[in-house]
Amino acid sequence: MLDVLPQMPEDSILGLSSACRSDPSPNKIDLTVGIYMNEEGVCPVFDAVRLAQQSLVAEETTKAYMAPAGDAAFNQGLQRLVLGSGSAALADARVSSIQTPGGCGALRIGAEIINAAAPGARVWVSDPTWPVHIPLLGSVGLRFETYRYYEPVSHGVNFDGMVEDLGRAGRGDVVLLHGCCHNPCGADLTLEQWSVIADMAERQGFMPFVDIAYQGLGDGLEQDVAGLRLLVERLPEVIIAASCSKNMGLYRERTGAALFVSSSAENARALLSQAQVAARRIYSMPPAHGALLAGRVLADAELKTNWEDELQAMCWRINGLRTSLVSKLEQNTDRDFGFIEREKGMFSFLGLTRAEAIALREKHSIYMLESSRINVAGVNGANIDYLAEAVGAVLRG
Ligand SMILES: Cc1ncc(COP(=O)(O)O)c(C=O)c1O
Repeated sequence: MLDVLPQMPEDSILGLSSACRSDPSPNKIDLTVGIYMNEEGVCPVFDAVRLAQQSLVAEETTKAYMAPAGDAAFNQGLQRLVLGSGSAALADARVSSIQTPGGCGALRIGAEIINAAAPGARVWVSDPTWPVHIPLLGSVGLRFETYRYYEPVSHGVNFDGMVEDLGRAGRGDVVLLHGCCHNPCGADLTLEQWSVIADMAERQGFMPFVDIAYQGLGDGLEQDVAGLRLLVERLPEVIIAASCSKNMGLYRERTGAALFVSSSAENARALLSQAQVAARRIYSMPPAHGALLAGRVLADAELKTNWEDELQAMCWRINGLRTSLVSKLEQNTDRDFGFIEREKGMFSFLGLTRAEAIALREKHSIYMLESSRINVAGVNGANIDYLAEAVGAVLRG
């Protein structure tokens, strides 16, 4: 029976990363997968997470299942982190959340809830968006429409195009937005632009679904959710998929949550019950370890400050790398790369052709997506000159 199934092609991003791992070149650089790397090329464990882990391991008395909604300290801590402790929706108990296996799990549970409320609803996604959004939401049965977003010539957001396209979104439609640090382009909306989207949602009746996977890695923990909070203040319903993979370094622990902001406390409770039923039919209970660590970090004032400081240092380092990359690339080419400094988070399209991205890989062992999207956090003091010189060599042809 099973032998009818053919071999599937390798995932485009993970495939390039594994090709880089087996490349024997001592100069190779992996700029593919969205993982924060420090100056030593290591994806580090946060100090606060390490401390929380030591106490958790010492105190843990059971490996019994988690509650279906997950760890209460984690859910409460994450709600405050994302929405702010002064959130009116939180004060009115109009928010519920379920711990999920990573941000992907949150996106999937959010999609299940949308599909339960409006089977086959249309989800508007940015052009481009993170490719995994499509199978995660599409496999539930949701349909897609695309709105214009990234403009390669200006290397910025085509906001007029976005507004024109979303002008066709109406009641019963969902608009998927990247909360900050857009993946793959790094071009984010300004607060004024978020406000225009909120006006449109109010007027036209569509519901925002916000994917926030990089809070703290753009400008800072508070600044990065200002747009999202504006939507939550103004609209009756918003779904949020939050991830702790990047901002707590908990990638492999699969730590995230789906948050449901709804029009009443009663509906918030109903949505949580729906989410628990959806989780039960997919994977039952969420994994414990990552959420127990994040819950401890968020609940303990000292650990939280320690974590916030380390995260802020990462954020500054990424922004510093962006500045250095602009100057090194401009020293080696006659192009304006200033846009890299205006973008947020880990990603940027360098604006190279597919042939140029392939030449960088084949001639210089520099691995980026063929769209020339790079993970800026894969750059460091030891590889930045080699990278900029190689880009210069490839552009000269
Ligand atoms: C835009 C976006 N959303 C969600 C996620 C989900 O991450 P995870 O499931 O690892 O928490 C990622 C991870 O790369 C992402 O880039």
